[in-house]
Amino acid sequence: MGEKGRCCVDQEWLDGVYEKLLVKMKAECERVGTMIPYTPREGKYHDLDVFGGSIGFWTNGFWPGMLWQMYEATGDEAYKKAAEGVEERMDAILHGFEGVDHDAGFLFLLSAVADYRKTGNNDSRRRGLFAANLLAGRYNPVGKFIRAWNDGMLDAVKKDEGPEIEKESVFAGNGMSGGMIIDCMMNIPLLYWASSVTGDPRFAHIAFSHAKTAQQYIVREDGSCNHIVFFNPQTGEFVDNPGGQGFQKGSSWSRGQSWAVYGFALSYRHTKDESFLNTAKKCAHYCISNLAVADWLPLVDYRAPEEPLKYDSTAGMITACGLLELAEHVGEHEKKLYTKAAFRILRACDARFANWDPKVDSIMDGGTFFYHDPTGENTEVPIIYADYYLIEAVLRLKGKALFTW
Ligand code: GLY
Repeated sequence: MGEKGRCCVDQEWLDGVYEKLLVKMKAECERVGTMIPYTPREGKYHDLDVFGGSIGFWTNGFWPGMLWQMYEATGDEAYKKAAEGVEERMDAILHGFEGVDHDAGFLFLLSAVADYRKTGNNDSRRRGLFAANLLAGRYNPVGKFIRAWNDGMLDAVKKDEGPEIEKESVFAGNGMSGGMIIDCMMNIPLLYWASSVTGDPRFAHIAFSHAKTAQQYIVREDGSCNHIVFFNPQTGEFVDNPGGQGFQKGSSWSRGQSWAVYGFALSYRHTKDESFLNTAKKCAHYCISNLAVADWLPLVDYRAPEEPLKYDSTAGMITACGLLELAEHVGEHEKKLYTKAAFRILRACDARFANWDPKVDSIMDGGTFFYHDPTGENTEVPIIYADYYLIEAVLRLKGKALFTW
């Protein structure tokens, strides 16, 4: 071990980052409060400054998630108060439930369910269960998958505002009802949680079945992943796996890879099915080998052309958390391997992309929403979930994180 300190972590770096986090998040919490941020403009967050300004946009749970993490680490009531305020605002999502898609997991695990886990608040439990029922209701029992997007996404794809999906594969006339995506591996923990609190195994059965389908149709032999799979929603037959937010069909979108590492590790945690652990490891090894040859900085797609060089810090932060989750389920040797790799990614992204100035909103620059970005506005910019996963990773390493998945 070249680094100082515990296991394979540079303790001096970790303590330094933690101190900066305390200062930065305190200042942000005072400025942002119950607003729901996504990306800053001229260094300042604005409320619901997301695509369409929608309260139901998939990233809106990350700010309350950051607040709950900071509350867990510090006990500072200001974080709790702001998180509770955001959670109440998010009731509008449940009231307009026909707009909710599979991202009910991201939205409510990090807000209501985090609140319930930390405080035992029964209103929060009810919100979490409402969201879990919506997610479970998206399960297609013939195809054995959870439907990802609603048909509104189809309009966005047609107008070139959504992911770059080959139009003809959208979808053999089936609209969005036959689609599943790798990202959903991070939504299904809502179902595992719902089963654990209600004692009703149906939610977990759906999560397990979806994860098996993802394992079969999304993860490739070498540990790389497809982003999207389309099935015929009537028969459950496989239709296509087109390209999505990465470079092209058959390439390897790095955030999708990171959802796979973390998502399969979590399905292993919740089910103890060894095959999920092995899938998580396979995807992790693919990520680690690609990152190790790129100075531990995540490209947007591990199989895109060398030029133009485009990074995505969000993939790095999520991969780091996934590796730290994986480290909890393996023996000592592998634990060091995964912890060390997570630490390398965090340190490289910190050096390259972090802004610790407490007067400026957001920490981690260098986030990219999707590879083909005609305006460039969504390429190498600060994105809220890079900060969420950075905080989760740092607090995991400090032994101060709230388990939210
Ligand atoms: N879950 C959407 C994304 O990763 O961009």
